[in-house]
Amino acid sequence: MPKKTVEDIQVKGKRVLLRVDFNVPLDINTGAISDDSRIRASLPTIKYLVDHEAKVIICSHLGRPGGKVVETLRMAPIAERLSQLMGLPISTASDCIGQKVESQVRTLREGDILVLENLRFHPEEEANDPSFARKLAKLADIYVNDAFGTAHRAHASTVGVAKHLPAVAGFLMKKELEVMERLLHNPERPSACLIGGAKVSDKIELLQNMLRKVDKLLVGGSMAATFFKTQGYEVGHSLIEDDKLGLAKKLLQEAKMWKVPFLLPIDAVVAEEIIAGASTRVMPISNIPSGSHIVDIGPQSVELFCNELKKCRTIMWNGPMGIYEIPQFAHGTKAIARFLSTLNATTVIGGGSSAEIVQEMGLADKMTHVSTGGGASLRFLEGAKLPGVEVLLDKK
Ligand code: 3PG
Repeated sequence: MPKKTVEDIQVKGKRVLLRVDFNVPLDINTGAISDDSRIRASLPTIKYLVDHEAKVIICSHLGRPGGKVVETLRMAPIAERLSQLMGLPISTASDCIGQKVESQVRTLREGDILVLENLRFHPEEEANDPSFARKLAKLADIYVNDAFGTAHRAHASTVGVAKHLPAVAGFLMKKELEVMERLLHNPERPSACLIGGAKVSDKIELLQNMLRKVDKLLVGGSMAATFFKTQGYEVGHSLIEDDKLGLAKKLLQEAKMWKVPFLLPIDAVVAEEIIAGASTRVMPISNIPSGSHIVDIGPQSVELFCNELKKCRTIMWNGPMGIYEIPQFAHGTKAIARFLSTLNATTVIGGGSSAEIVQEMGLADKMTHVSTGGGASLRFLEGAKLPGVEVLLDKK
């Protein structure tokens, strides 16, 4: 890890501004936290700071309030959950900058925790406004970034603030970066990348980069239809990105050139309509009915993918194999998730929907690593630099 971490800096008695990604999913009916994994994932950093007698000032965004106060996106319930998990009282602030918060910070004793209000209640946060960043920085002596999930955003609390304070990584940030670095540069071989999801356009850069890094690529999900079309197959009403057909073809050619096996499903579950309760059929890819939608990978594809994956020592998975939001179309995705959980190999689950699926299925602790960053892990594996990481101090 080339960046300094919280262990490389003296925190005792210091005011530490800790940026976390507590952007957790909330139940649409009750507003309750439906998955607290992101809070749990930052506990090692928070505990370290408390144990080392820092004054801990936690900040995060929650949802996309669009620069104004949204009552349902306040940080209080998050602070309450954190307090339960830490077994410590935790205070909250009614804003994230300003005199009132500054005086609250002055009352903090060593080992105390204060949770600031949602950063995105201010439009200046996402605009990376320099004056807003300065006001945030004014609250602290040291900045620790543990928000891997937001490291692809150049916002005031992820980038701007680091201009004013010594900036280091927390333990979650360190762990995520080490796992992702290893996947890209030093995976135990053979290694495979299993990609799914709705659109090729979302994953083009990922596919292009991973093609040069792994020993085999497997592609499922709705995006596979675009690849089938380039091969001349009928895909019915499945979502096709016509403007990406050329790129899909080029990717298949590149895989051939680099001698990287590029596996696509051989059968699919098809339905006339994308609704719960629709009647479904399993069809070979060479025989998709013209009036149907491809909604999942079929059982033969599951078998083919599992046979290939079990030969691998490292597997990265990003994106569902079908329209998994509809339980009837989620069998392929679930079968693959279950299979990955049984393997004695390094299994890394990209954040976002794949992470949600393994959490929901109770399989997260059977994987080597489930990333807390959807967009961030995607950007990193595409080969991009993450702005929130770039600004941290180098170890040397
Ligand atoms: C995420 O959930 O991916 C991060 O918290 C970033 O959120 P954003 O996409 O709203 O910037």
